[in-house]
Amino acid sequence: MRAIVLDRTGKPDVLQISEIADPIVKDNQVLVRNKYAGVNYADLLARQGLYSWSPKRPYILGFEASGIVEEIGKKVTNIEVGDSVIAAAQTGGYAELNAVDEKLALGYPDHFNYKEAAAYIATWATAWLALTEMARVRKGERLLVQAAAGGVGTSAIILGKALGLEVYGTASTQRKRDFIESLGAHALTYENFDTELKDKPPNCVLESVGGDIYKRSNICLAPLGRIVLIGGSGIHVNKKNPFSLYKAWKALPKTNIAKVIKYSKGFMGLHIGRLIPQFDKLKHSLDHLNRLVSENEFRPIVSEEQIFNLADAGIAHQYIHDRKNIGKVLLKP
Ligand SMILES: NC(=O)c1ccc[n+]([C@@H]2O[C@H](COP(=O)([O-])OP(=O)(O)OC[C@H]3O[C@@H](n4cnc5c(N)ncnc54)[C@H](OP(=O)(O)O)[C@@H]3O)[C@@H](O)[C@H]2O)c1
Repeated sequence: MRAIVLDRTGKPDVLQISEIADPIVKDNQVLVRNKYAGVNYADLLARQGLYSWSPKRPYILGFEASGIVEEIGKKVTNIEVGDSVIAAAQTGGYAELNAVDEKLALGYPDHFNYKEAAAYIATWATAWLALTEMARVRKGERLLVQAAAGGVGTSAIILGKALGLEVYGTASTQRKRDFIESLGAHALTYENFDTELKDKPPNCVLESVGGDIYKRSNICLAPLGRIVLIGGSGIHVNKKNPFSLYKAWKALPKTNIAKVIKYSKGFMGLHIGRLIPQFDKLKHSLDHLNRLVSENEFRPIVSEEQIFNLADAGIAHQYIHDRKNIGKVLLKP
C-alpha cells in the first residue's frame, strides 16, 4: 500500500510517499480502507519531533481517517465488513489501509459524507468534552474560542451556539473573522479580544495558542470562569537552539495554584488522543454529542480546496503552517 511513513523529523518535505506492505490484521482488529485522513495541528508537531504522544519512529502519521472496513479479525464482534467507520488511532491515517483495534473504529452521524467523517473526532470530540465535561458550560454563558476559524475552533463555535452560549472567537485575518461571524460568533482580533471583552468577560475560554494569548485569556476570565487548555499553536521551538527552547518554555501556560484560588478560576487541560482508548467510559457524553450533531445536521467544516492528495501531505502541512486553513484540512489516499 501507499503510505507516508515518518522516519525522520523536520520540515514538511520529510513527508514522502512510499510503497510498503499492507498491514496484517490481528484478532481484535479491523482493516480499514481509508477514504480521507484528517490533518491535525498535532501532526505538524509530530513531524517536527515536538509531540510527546507520538510512538517511536518509523510510523505512519495520522490520528484519524474515515473509511470502509475491508476485513475483520477473528475476535471482532461489533463491526462487520462493509461498515463505514472513523479509524481513530495513534498512527496510520496517512495511508491507504489501516489496521486498528475494534474499539478504535468508531461510528459517526449518518448524514456525514466520508470527508466530514474524517474531519470529526479529533476536533468535535475535543471541543465537546472541553465545553461540557470540563468547563461544564451553562446556557447564557459567554465563551471565548481562541484560533476560532480552525478545525477545533469552528466546531467549538457551532457546539457553543447549540449549547446556548454567547460565542466570541479570535482569528488572524479578516477572511477568517468573516467566516467565524458566518457561524454566528462575534469575531475579535488577537490584539483586541481582552479590551473588547472587558465589560463582558467570558465564563469559559477554549485556549489553544499559548504565550501572551494564554496569559491575556486567563486575565480576562469572569469570576468563577474556566479556561480549558488544549494546545499551543503560537509556540514555535527549534530544539537545537537553547534560546528558542527557553522562549518556548516561557510561552508554555503555567499556573500558580495559590493564584487559581485567589482569583476563583478553573484551570483545566484536555488531550483527546490519550482519551480515545477510554471512549467506552465516555460513551454517555459522546452519544450525546452524536445525537446533537445528528438532530441539527451539523457538519464539520471541509472544502475542496483544502483536500490534498496523500503524496502532497507536505504541502498540506505547509498550508496549515501558513495559517491558510479554515476548518479542516484533509488528505485523500
Ligand atoms: N488537546 C487536544 O486534545 C487537542 C485536540 C485537537 C487539537 N488540539 C490543539 O488545538 C489547536 C487547534 O488544532 P487544529 O488541528 O484544529 O488546528 P487549526 O486550528 O486548524 O490550526 C491551528 C490554528 O492556530 C492558529 N495560530 C495562532 N497562532 C499561530 C501561530 N503563531 N502559528 C500558526 N498557527 C497559529 C491559526 O489560526 P489563526 O491564523 O486564526 O491564528 C491556525 O489556523 C492546536 O493547538 C492543536 O494542537 C488539541
